[in-house]
Amino acid sequence: MTTTRCGAGEKNEAGLCLQVNGRVHTLDDVPREATLLHLLRNDLGLNGPKYGCGLGQCGACTVHVDGIAARACVIPAHGVAGRTITTLEGLGTKANWHPVQAAFEEAQAAQCGYCLNGMVMQAAALLARDPNASEARIRSELSGNLCRCGTHIEILDAVQRAATRLRAPAA
Ligand code: FES
Ligand code: FES
Repeated sequence: MTTTRCGAGEKNEAGLCLQVNGRVHTLDDVPREATLLHLLRNDLGLNGPKYGCGLGQCGACTVHVDGIAARACVIPAHGVAGRTITTLEGLGTKANWHPVQAAFEEAQAAQCGYCLNGMVMQAAALLARDPNASEARIRSELSGNLCRCGTHIEILDAVQRAATRLRAPAA
């Protein structure tokens, strides 16, 4: 499997063209059964999304597809051709964290950190739609993201901090 860049909107009959974190990639010989998670991690070197259950049940692999939180481990790569994919790496960087990433760091909302990709991506998608999300709404939205370390209280605190920032008018 090889990766090259292709122009936005360019048609490529032979390869799979995906837009990931603002870059367009053409990947050749992608098997029909390949998952988006496999492609992101193994072909594009994006290790933010984690492999947990592989069954769409733990949330560790969460990415955004056209801004909606989605489980990359059960999405066929060919099924998202032409869609806009964002991974944790595309959400923000240490030099310019997304408010949700900054809040997780500030709230020290991690022990092993394995669930954090999913928690952050799920929360960021929710707050983009609804920065006024109530505590009950946040809890409900994150209920499908599992944390084996039990840092739920800190995670909830982080998401609420991020919501407060996102609601604040720009200075
Ligand atoms: S690894 Fe995708 S939901 Fe668990
Ligand atoms: S911090 Fe370890 S799984 Fe959540």
